Amino acid sequence: MDWGMKNRLARIIKPETGRGVMLAVDHGYFLGPTERLEVPRKTIQPLLPYADSLMLTRGVLRTSVDANFPIPIVLRVSGGSSIIGKDLSNEKITTSIKDAIRLNVTALALSIFVGARYEHESLVSLAKLVNEGEEYGIPVLAVTAIGKELEKRDERYLSLSCRIAAEFGAHLVKTYYCENFEKVVNKCPVPLIIAGGPKLENEHDALQLTYDAIQAGAVGVDMGRNIWQSDYPVSMIKAVRAIVHENHTVKEAHDLFNKLKTTEQSAKTATSV
Ligand code: R5P
Repeated sequence: MDWGMKNRLARIIKPETGRGVMLAVDHGYFLGPTERLEVPRKTIQPLLPYADSLMLTRGVLRTSVDANFPIPIVLRVSGGSSIIGKDLSNEKITTSIKDAIRLNVTALALSIFVGARYEHESLVSLAKLVNEGEEYGIPVLAVTAIGKELEKRDERYLSLSCRIAAEFGAHLVKTYYCENFEKVVNKCPVPLIIAGGPKLENEHDALQLTYDAIQAGAVGVDMGRNIWQSDYPVSMIKAVRAIVHENHTVKEAHDLFNKLKTTEQSAKTATSV
């Protein structure tokens, strides 16, 4: 791997622990003003100091993140469908490599839709993006998207999807956690990170998901809703970090969350009076 590529990946997956916490705030590209991400700057700003990298679109990057804050950017460059449209898998590359370079991004992210109607187009887009990424030393994060079919999150499907992403040259793959996740990890020759998916019932469940994924061999998370839809997002991202980087157990991380949320609540109360 070339120096530039290695260096960029090391900004996302920290060499000190071999793991990373990526904060996902790209949901608006097909969901519009997602709950608690209605005003992106307000959601993102307090979480920035605790994320190793930030995944988002160029529109939210330019409008809602200060350029003088040194956080590695993972730029979503695929899109083209909305939640009320006909087919979520109908995506294309939406952002040029030139603009990504202008934005000084650390990685490029694109969804693939294995088994869906536009499977072919999404895989060819991944190949094209990897070709461009290789040319300029920018890693590509492939997102194994499932659209509205949440039941697709099983070992068989995710192994297929992750492996295809790696075969196409993705440098990092984002997927979902599932039972027997270590089998998905073993069959994928590039590092895997997990999405959180829709908000779980409580923070404990999301911390358990994080812990199980790390134990099974994931190198980190690319988590959104289970962090910023929590009533205590800063406490939550810190608890997730404690599992990812400090090998906390679920209980230790949850205790930490409970301790931190008291301070977060006091800060909220103080600013609202
Ligand atoms: C979905 O396609 C988006 O790319 C999100 O970045 C991804 O699902 C991770 O966010 P969450 O943890 O909310 O699922």
